[in-house]
Parts: sequence; C-alpha cells; structure tokens
Amino acid sequence: MRSIIEWFKYKGWFIFDLPYFIREKEYTIGLELGAKGGRSMYYMLKENKNLKLTGIDLWENMEGSAYKNNQQNEFRCKRKLRRFRDRTTLLKGDAKTMVNEFQDSTFDFIYYDLQCRNMVNFHHEMIALYLPKIKNGGILIGRDFRQFRETLYNLGFEEKDFLNCKMGERVSPRLEYLIIKK
Ligand SMILES: C[S@@+](CC[C@H](N)C(=O)[O-])C[C@H]1O[C@@H](n2cnc3c(N)ncnc32)[C@H](O)[C@@H]1O
Repeated sequence: MRSIIEWFKYKGWFIFDLPYFIREKEYTIGLELGAKGGRSMYYMLKENKNLKLTGIDLWENMEGSAYKNNQQNEFRCKRKLRRFRDRTTLLKGDAKTMVNEFQDSTFDFIYYDLQCRNMVNFHHEMIALYLPKIKNGGILIGRDFRQFRETLYNLGFEEKDFLNCKMGERVSPRLEYLIIKK
C-alpha cells in the first residue's frame, strides 16, 4: 500500500510538488520550457493566484509515443489554460530562437522540462541561453535533473548546488533546483 502511495506521489510531481514549492517561495514571474499539454502550468497557476507564467513549446509531432500527436497539445494547452489567460503567455516555436524575446533577469524561476529525444544534444546550449533570464537569487527547477548532471556540471554547477524541492517538510522525489547567483 505504501509503495502505491509513493508511486502516485512520484508520478504526480506536477500536482503534489511543483505548485506548492512555487507557493512556498512566493514567486510571481515564471517561465516553463516545454509546456506540452499545459499540465504543469495548469497546477502552478491554480495554486498561485499571483503567478504570471509564460510557456514555450514546439508542439511538433516527434518520435516517441508521448509525442506522436504533439501538435494536438497546442490546442489542449490553450484550452486547459483558458481560465488563466490574464496570467498566461504561450509561445510556439523552438525555445533556442525565442530567447531574445526576454530581457535578462526577468524570471523568479524557470521550470525546465525539455526531456525529449530531439533535445538530447542541446541541453547545454539551451540552459546556457536561458540562465541569464533568471533574476539574481532566482532558480532553475528541473524534473529528473539526474539525466543531465554532466551538462550542468559543464555549465559550472557542482553537486552541492543541487537542492531538493521541499514543500514544508516533504521532499520532492523528482524535483531539484539550482540557485542562480550573479
Ligand atoms: C517532457 S514534455 C513537457 C511536459 C510538460 N511540462 C508537462 O507537464 O506535461 C517536453 C516538451 O518539450 C517540447 N520541446 C522539445 N524541444 C523543444 C524546443 N527546442 N523548444 C520548445 N519546446 C521544445 C516538446 O514539444 C514537448 O512538448
């Protein structure tokens, strides 16, 4: 029974962890890279009434069962986030080419969720482009950052910099963050 509950909590990071972590930090300006169907954006916006959130996605069909109908996710995302339209900006395209849309030091946090096959060799470039867009003292949050530790080490982070997202006393099994100091 316990392991089923843990499995739900592990799979439900976007319901149980991310929205409440943002709430505890009282962040008001965020960016999600990899909006997909708007799932994680929805819960962040629902639990954080003062949060303004921008989401970027390619919304192109790609290899892999989760992405073969990815074009439909653009419509799903827009429909899901309609009730938060005053606090939401959705941008379609390659995040690499969109980075100049944002001034440096704009965001309290960036939630980085671009774990797709097309991105395998591009995490370094993408994260390097977006780090300056985070405010001094703001954070980069990641799901399963373990998959690209090397990339983040090469960008100058050390193992001691990786912090677990905590909601009260509870530690997220998947979400970690890095504090950006300028
Ligand atoms: C892991 S999914 C995001 C999941 C989403 N955050 C959620 O909670 O359901 C990754 C998304 O990144 C998008 N993506 C991949 N490469 C991209 C790029 N270069 N620019 C913008 N979006 C990209 C894909 O289209 C895909 O929808």
